[in-house]
Amino acid sequence: AVTRTFSIIKPDATRRNLTGAVTKMLEDAGLRVVASKRIMMSRDQAEGFYAVHKERPFFGELVDFMTSGPVVVQVLEGEDAVKRNRAVMGATNPADAEEGTIRKTYAESIEANSVHGSDSDENAATEIAYFFDKDEIVG
Ligand code: CMP
Repeated sequence: AVTRTFSIIKPDATRRNLTGAVTKMLEDAGLRVVASKRIMMSRDQAEGFYAVHKERPFFGELVDFMTSGPVVVQVLEGEDAVKRNRAVMGATNPADAEEGTIRKTYAESIEANSVHGSDSDENAATEIAYFFDKDEIVG
């Protein structure tokens, strides 16, 4: 089925002027950008978005990193969008990511890993609603 997922192009990628290159890889994987905006995440926004990781040792650094520069938040649409996006992103740690994936191609480290993508349809809906109003999504 055609579904939606939520994506973030992270500060390490926007800093290296890779917004277009990353988006092209998403599009070439069969995903369509139906909403997109470049923002600076506030600390509150980043802490709320990553609340499930609150107890992890890397939480503070992760929030520092995600607020260190602009990010591009996007809604992606396509056949099995969550799964399709996770396949093109590759493993969280670029050292484990497959050739041809976004993280293998561009990520700097497990933290500065260039992209975020929702891991389930349920989380996709929550994450989309966290950053976008309904009228900002144009399919
Ligand atoms: P993301 O898919 O956005 O979800 C949580 C993020 O935490 C992850 O990508 C990485 O950026 C970061 N992360 C995950 N594991 C680690 C780790 N071991 N050390 C530092 N950052 C991590």
